[in-house]
Amino acid sequence: MKATIVIKNISNLITMEGPNRPRVKEEMRNIGLIQNGIVAINEDEIIYVGNGKLPSHIEVGEETIFIDGSGKTVTPGLVDSHTHLVHGGSRENELAMKLNGMGYLDILKMGGGIHSTVKATKEASFEELYDKAKKSLDIMLSYGVTTVEAKSGYGIDDFDTELKQLEVAKKLNEDHPIDIISTFLGAHAIPEKYKENSNEFVDKLIKEMIPEVSNRHLAKFCDVFCEEGVFSVEQSRKILNAGKKYDLIPKIHADEIKPLGGAELAAEAGCITADHLVAASDEGMKKMAESRVIANLLPATSFNLQTGNFAKARKMIETGIPVSLSTDYNPGSCPTENMQLVMSFASLIMKMTPEEVITAATMNGACALGLEKKIGSIEKGKQADIVIFDSPNLNYIIYHFGINHVEKVIKKGIIVRE
Ligand code: NIG
Ligand code: FE
Repeated sequence: MKATIVIKNISNLITMEGPNRPRVKEEMRNIGLIQNGIVAINEDEIIYVGNGKLPSHIEVGEETIFIDGSGKTVTPGLVDSHTHLVHGGSRENELAMKLNGMGYLDILKMGGGIHSTVKATKEASFEELYDKAKKSLDIMLSYGVTTVEAKSGYGIDDFDTELKQLEVAKKLNEDHPIDIISTFLGAHAIPEKYKENSNEFVDKLIKEMIPEVSNRHLAKFCDVFCEEGVFSVEQSRKILNAGKKYDLIPKIHADEIKPLGGAELAAEAGCITADHLVAASDEGMKKMAESRVIANLLPATSFNLQTGNFAKARKMIETGIPVSLSTDYNPGSCPTENMQLVMSFASLIMKMTPEEVITAATMNGACALGLEKKIGSIEKGKQADIVIFDSPNLNYIIYHFGINHVEKVIKKGIIVRE
């Protein structure tokens, strides 16, 4: 078999070899490390992974591209499985409010926060949203991200804006090297119009919006912001169950600020992930572990909210919950596209080991999007999504924080960044 690309002499090759399912407990530390590693790619597929030299059945020719991996660390492409990629405007005006002690939910209650992004997204044209999101994707790719989840949620009751966001994500998925997986998050805030009768909006979501999004094949997942003053557990349950009826896999923004019972609901509803979980109860965590719901943790959001509260990652891992990590990139609670910073925060603040961190950002991230058979590890037969870090080892990437360590990114067997 012919190799189109060979990466050789790799000082530290992190393969993540192992079962194609969420990794738990000590499995999160088995990163399949190969020293003096070598990887061969044919077109978009990984055809050989090993150590030392290529075996004779892998042919190389004049057109084979050789990359020297000495002094480098090579990992599977990073997966950012929770973002609000497509939106209009920005919210730096909230910084002063936060510094004056105003909370995220206070700003939302006043009609700011998500509501101000709803306004900006409604006013933005398809092209404006496309150009802004493309810029963010370029940044994400430069930081080693090769697969991204993108949520709607800045149209809420304005269904045309919800659809516009999803159509932008669809077009970007076709045009940009990064793969984009869409999530319908119509249940992101209670619209002003429905302030006094939020159940009516839940009805609209269930009867009109979810069926239409599903019929148009615009999303793989259905998400809800289950939080005090936003959607209750009961309303969230209804929304997620309606999504399931229309083949939308449930996901949930759970227990981000108040311990409402979102983690418990995630287990009950069979969510693929529960995200945030900063205030998740012990009982909720136990139930998530039993149901193998992935905890998608977003430490850069906690950092930016300035509350000092972070998800209890150590406890979750010890309880047997598979953990993934994402940016939560959005204009309010987390204006950064930088997955490497998230990885550093996960270790420096939430005390995850570098091995757990890379597992969470690759294999478990792939599982968070239901893509574990195709991506998440560097193994024969998998799609060639690979990052070459100009770092001698994994610890260095995480410890030397706040900068970009990426040297090259390979997506579907093509060098898309160098
Ligand atoms: O995951 N918490 C709800 N949604 C987003 C924030 C969206 C926004 O503030 O615009 C989050 O943090
Ligand atoms: Fe979010």
